Amino acid sequence: MASAHPPAPVLCGLGTWLPPHVVTNDDLSRELDTSDEWIRSRTGIGRRHVADPGTATSDLAVEAGRRALKSAGLDAADTVVVATTTPDRPCPATAPLVASELGLGTVPAFDVGAVCTGFLYALATAAGFLAAGSAGTVLVIGADTYSSILDPADRSTRAIFGDGAGAVVLRAGDPDEPGALGRVELGSDGRGCDLITVPSGGSRDPIRAETADRADPFFRMEGKKVFRNAVERMAESSQTAAERLGWGVGDVDLLVAHQANIRIMHAVADRLCLPRSRCHVHLDRVGNTAAASIPLALADAAATGRLQPGDRIVTTAFGGGLTWGAAALRWPDVSPA
Ligand code: ACO
Repeated sequence: MASAHPPAPVLCGLGTWLPPHVVTNDDLSRELDTSDEWIRSRTGIGRRHVADPGTATSDLAVEAGRRALKSAGLDAADTVVVATTTPDRPCPATAPLVASELGLGTVPAFDVGAVCTGFLYALATAAGFLAAGSAGTVLVIGADTYSSILDPADRSTRAIFGDGAGAVVLRAGDPDEPGALGRVELGSDGRGCDLITVPSGGSRDPIRAETADRADPFFRMEGKKVFRNAVERMAESSQTAAERLGWGVGDVDLLVAHQANIRIMHAVADRLCLPRSRCHVHLDRVGNTAAASIPLALADAAATGRLQPGDRIVTTAFGGGLTWGAAALRWPDVSPA
């Protein structure tokens, strides 16, 4: 008899990659008017990894994707989705190159752009492919090279962002098995599109010889205005994602939030009445890695024993767009590679 439910997306592999070059807060202080004390106390960040010149987002994505497939015990996937806002080029998408570099042949491959919420949007997209029967396995990669869009003179963004990639493999499975994702809660509000933006270089303000003087090709963020919005949206969507699986928020063993700022993560936990000790903190070592942040934090939690098979986790993000989202799952018996 046919199952009453469409296949559920089940997490069965996890891989990460960080470029080897590390930039500490003290390194930044030698270049910019900032300090280790300011950065740690305002953000919780201690260091970040930065890609060498010539390294592109696809290079990071391929390394993380290869490791995720290895962790899943697979040498192929049916579809590749890359979440990024720093594609190798404005055109084409980065995912087809990643799929080719991974030796996956001519599988469907495309990018999803939702800034720091991109990984959750990509998970939801992959879940749709699996539910529709369009794929049996999907490689979902979050990869960003923010160092390529930061203004070298802007201390407020240079202190925060780092480069990296993280990937998961989702397979079609049963909604009751460990690793099965509940419905991914997503939202957006384009009225806030100016709060996190790269102003120039798109169709609104193309960079041309005659406008080059006033063009701004760098990433800009109005951090203070984003802060409160991020807390509210992440708390709301986390609560809904947990409740959809029949959990109370207090049942959540670990909150794996987008690693934007430790003060934001703690404020989300406070709003949910969850002890702050249940927030996983990874940004002290990697900063905000945008679309890579959640899979990198999941891998760190699993590798360090913070996450055990069977644990109930909620993962949540907020980012440019504005966009936000959350997803809940029971942690499967998966070792990150
Ligand atoms: N070192 C020293 N001083 C600094 C630095 C720095 N690295 N950065 C900023 N300052 C200064 C500012 O210039 C400002 O000085 P002024 O008062 O003389 O103008 C002062 O510190 C206060 O700046 P604020 O921006 O008000 O500092 P705040 O405490 O809000 O911290 C931060 C800034 C860390 C960005 C915070 O607002 C934040 O985390 N916001 C949310 C970010 C977020 O969640 N973004 C969404 C996800 S990211 C994405 O989608 C790509």
